[in-house]
Amino acid sequence: MKILIIFYSFEGNTKLIAENIAKTINADILELKLKKETTPKGFMKYFWGGKEAIMKTKPELLPFDKNIQDYDILFIGTPVWAWTYAPPLNTLFSTCQIVNKKIALFCCCDGQKGKTFDQMKKALENNQILGEIDFQEPLKNNTDANIQRANKWAEDKKAVAYEILQVMAKEL
Ligand SMILES: Cc1cc2nc3c(=O)[nH]c(=O)nc-3n(C[C@H](O)[C@H](O)[C@H](O)COP(=O)(O)O)c2cc1C
Repeated sequence: MKILIIFYSFEGNTKLIAENIAKTINADILELKLKKETTPKGFMKYFWGGKEAIMKTKPELLPFDKNIQDYDILFIGTPVWAWTYAPPLNTLFSTCQIVNKKIALFCCCDGQKGKTFDQMKKALENNQILGEIDFQEPLKNNTDANIQRANKWAEDKKAVAYEILQVMAKEL
C-alpha cells in the first residue's frame, strides 16, 4: 500500500507540513511546481494569486516523475487562495485521473479557509475522502505544535486507510 503526498506551496507553509507528514508516515512526496515561476510581492501577490484562484486558471506545471496510479492513498495539500485551493491543483485535477483513491486533505491559510475543502472534495468526487485538516500560518505560529498535530493526524489517517484497504482485500 503506497502513499503519496501531493502539494503546492507558494511561501513554504504547506511544504513544511507536507515534508513532515511524508517523513512521519514514510510516504513519497510530489511537489507541484509552476513552469513559469512568478514571485509578486506585497499587495501584488494577493491581486495576482486571488485573480488566478477566482478564475480557476490551470497554470502549466513542471513535469513530475511520480505516477499517481501507483499509489493507493493520497494526501493532497494546498495554501488557501481567495477562500479556495490554489490554481496548480486545477492543473493536477484536470490532467491526472484521480479515482478510487483514499484521500486526506490539508491546507494552510491565514484563518479563513472558506470553501477550500468543499471544492477539493467536489473535484475529487470519485474517491473516498478520509478527512481534512487546516493550519494557520504554521511557519509563523506554533510551528512545533502544528507539526506534531499534522504528524498525529497523518498517522491516524494512514491507519484508517490501511484498515479500509485490508477489509477490501479480504472481500476480493
Ligand atoms: C493570493 C493569496 C490569496 C490568499 N487568500 C487567503 C484566503 O482567502 N484566506 C486565508 O485564510 N488566507 C489566504 N491567504 C494566505 C495563505 O493561505 C497563507 O499564507 C498560507 O499559509 C500560505 O501557504 P504557503 O506558504 O504554502 O503558500 C492568501 C495568500 C495569497 C498569496
